[in-house]
Amino acid sequence: MAEIGTDIQKAITLLQEGEVIGMPTETVYGLAGNAIDGRAVARIFAVKNRPAFDPLIVHVPDLETARQYVENIPEKAEALANRFWPGPLTLVLKKKPIIPDLVTSGMDTVGIRCPGHALTHRLLKALPFPLAAPSANPFGYVSPTKAQHVNEQLGDSIPYILDGGECNVGIESTIIGIEEEQVIVYRLGGLTLEKIESVIGKVILQSHSTSNPKAPGQLISHYAPSRKVLLGNIPALMQQYDEDISAILSFSHDYGVRNQIILSPTGSIEEAAKNLFAALRRLDKMNINFILAELAPDEGLGRAINDRLRRASSS
Ligand code: TXA
Ligand code: MG
Repeated sequence: MAEIGTDIQKAITLLQEGEVIGMPTETVYGLAGNAIDGRAVARIFAVKNRPAFDPLIVHVPDLETARQYVENIPEKAEALANRFWPGPLTLVLKKKPIIPDLVTSGMDTVGIRCPGHALTHRLLKALPFPLAAPSANPFGYVSPTKAQHVNEQLGDSIPYILDGGECNVGIESTIIGIEEEQVIVYRLGGLTLEKIESVIGKVILQSHSTSNPKAPGQLISHYAPSRKVLLGNIPALMQQYDEDISAILSFSHDYGVRNQIILSPTGSIEEAAKNLFAALRRLDKMNINFILAELAPDEGLGRAINDRLRRASSS
């Protein structure tokens, strides 16, 4: 198992030695390594069992630092960075040669973001290089929102997990790119479409394409627990699936059964997003065969929650 702690100096030393560690962000925990050290990047892919065609996000402390790693930033992207960084927004931009091809799976663009987490901000500020970090879960599984989640699955392969507490947002960053002046959303996430559109106007949502995905986070079967997730009307599903072999994942309603997790009893979409992945992990540990789940309201973070639930249910 990895050591879990809050020792930034230890994290810095390990990263400078080319090690890979668990790192908190406001969205989910990342598996971080020196983004400009090909060996550290290769280690990230190996620890995660991630296919080389799935590019990594590069983390920087601020927009000024981002400029060292990307070519000219389009006006709309810059407006979004100014407004929402640090925060759950990844910008896909043309990379500079200093970013290794392995990070971007050979593409000429790199996903870059400035995470909104105080401890990680200090870490990024102290390092002379940016951090490549995918979510710290085995490829295809649910992302971790607590240090303990990282330890349970990857603890044997990494020396240290920097503990930043439970992730505040709980769902991965929203990924956007600019194609011919149009803002394209590749992955719904912790920054809502409403907020993005309030700054730059209408965007195009491309996150449901399945063939040849630009962002493999778009892969239809992703973010999936090992129990089967059935998505629909919970009372109807309860008629079909016996209480002994199923558990309920409800948005806010109390269905009055023993095996049940309510994402937000008060009906807060933000609270539901924050609790979603930990709930899927808890359900996965229950002695059941089926997770009966319902969608959240299709607005704000509810869209990202529903995107993850749909993917979880299509494995
Ligand atoms: O919130 C997050 O984004 C977290 C935290 C740790 O920062 N990271 C995360 O990384 O979710 P990961 O690797 O699990 O998902 C990154 C997604 C992948 O689906 C990848 O395909 C996409 O970002 N991506 C990375 N670089 C890209 C690029 N140049 N163009 C399009 N998609 C890209
Ligand atoms: Mg991931």
